[in-house]
Amino acid sequence: MDPITAVTHADPYPYYASLRARGGLAFDPGLGMWLASSAAAVAAVLAQPECRVRPAHEPVPQGIVGGAAGQVFGLLMRMNDGERQRCPRAAIEPGLQQVHAEEVSQRVAALLLGLPSDTAARLHDCQFHLPVAVVAGLLGFAAHTLPAIAGLTADFVACLSPASDRAQRDAAHRAAGQLTRRFEVLLDQPPVSPLLQRIVAGFGARDRDSLIANLIGLLSQTFEASAGLIGNTLCALLGDRRLLADLRAAPTRVADLLAEVQRHDPPVQNTRRFVTASCSVAGVTLEPGAVVLVLLASANRDPQLNPQPDRLLLEREARRSFSFGSGRHQCPGQELALAIASAVVGALLRQSTLDQPIAWTYKPSLNGRIPLFTSLPESH
Ligand code: HEM
Repeated sequence: MDPITAVTHADPYPYYASLRARGGLAFDPGLGMWLASSAAAVAAVLAQPECRVRPAHEPVPQGIVGGAAGQVFGLLMRMNDGERQRCPRAAIEPGLQQVHAEEVSQRVAALLLGLPSDTAARLHDCQFHLPVAVVAGLLGFAAHTLPAIAGLTADFVACLSPASDRAQRDAAHRAAGQLTRRFEVLLDQPPVSPLLQRIVAGFGARDRDSLIANLIGLLSQTFEASAGLIGNTLCALLGDRRLLADLRAAPTRVADLLAEVQRHDPPVQNTRRFVTASCSVAGVTLEPGAVVLVLLASANRDPQLNPQPDRLLLEREARRSFSFGSGRHQCPGQELALAIASAVVGALLRQSTLDQPIAWTYKPSLNGRIPLFTSLPESH
C-alpha cells in the first residue's frame, strides 16, 4: 500500500499507523513527497503560511488553463492563498453558518420524494444528487433546475482530479460555462434567496467573476465530500447490524453518528500543500518546491489527538478531527454538510433501503474515499 492506494483501500488505517510510527513528517522517495501523518505534523503544515494550496509555477492545472473551467478554478478560494482566498471567504462563510438545520431537513425531505425506488440508484442519488441540490436550492435555484445543476457540478468536478482525461476536461469547460450563465441569470433576477443575498452583500461591489466562481465552488466542494460523508456513514451502518438497530431505536443519535464517522473514516483522506519558501515545520526544514501530502485521515487516528482512536464511539468526549481541514482553509461548510448528511441518513434509517443486500467499492480517487453501492441478489 502507499498513501494514494490507501485512500480507496478497504482498511487503510493500520497502514497509516505504520506511517506515524516512522515519524510524523517523513520524506517518501517513491512518491517524491513529504508525508505528514501525525496530528502534530498535520496541524503544523496546515498552519504554516509558506505551505500553499497550489504550486507557485502552476496556479491553474496545465490541462484546464485557458478554458472556462480553468478561469473558475483560478478564482476559487480553495485554490488560492492571500487576498483571493480571504476576500471571498469573508463574504461567504457567515452566510453559510446562518443556514438553519430545520430548513436543510425540509429541503432534504422534499428531494427524497423524487428519488428512484431501485436501491443502488437511490443510494447514488442520496450521495451525489441530494447534497448539491440542497445547496443549489439554498442559493435560490428553482426545484425543477436542481437535477441539471447537480449534473453540471458533477461534470465540473471531474476536471479537478489530476487523473481526468481530455473528454472530462472538455465537459468541465462546458459545465463551467453553463453554471456561470445560470448564476448570472440568478443574480440578475431579484428577489434572490436569503443565503445568496447575504453572500452578495458580503462581496459588495467587488469582482463579480470571483463571486460567481466561488458560488460554483460551493457546489463543487459540496459534491464529492458530501457523497463520501454520507457513503462512509452508510458503510458503518451496513457493516454493523447492531449499530443499525441501535440507531433505528434512537434516531436522535444520527448527529452523533455523523460526528464520529467523519473522524473515523473521513471522505477527504488527504490534501496537498506546496512549499513556496524555506520553512521549518515540525522540526523539519522544507525547501521551496517541496510537496507535502497531508494525511488528514491518519491524524484523526493519532492517539495523541483522541483516546482509543480506532474505536467508533458515538459518545466520544471532546472529539478532535482534521476531516474538515484546519487553519485558514478549514471547511466553511462543515455545519451545513453535517446537517445535510444527518437529514439524509436519518431518512434512510426510516426506510427499508438499508435492509437490502448491498455491497460497495470505492470510487477511484487520489484523495476522496467515496463508496459506490451496488445491490446484491437477495440470496447472497
Ligand atoms: C455543504 C457541503 C460543503 C461545502 C459548501 C464546503 C465548502 C468548502 C469550501 C468553500 C472550502 C474552501 C475553503 C477555503 O479554501 O478557504 C472547503 C474546504 C474544505 N472542505 Fe468543505 N465543504 C462541504 C463539505 C465538506 C465535507 C463533507 C468535508 C469532509 C468531511 C469537507 C472537507 C473540507 C476540507 C478538508 C477542506 C480544506 C481543504 C484544504 O485545506 O486543503 N467539506 N469546503
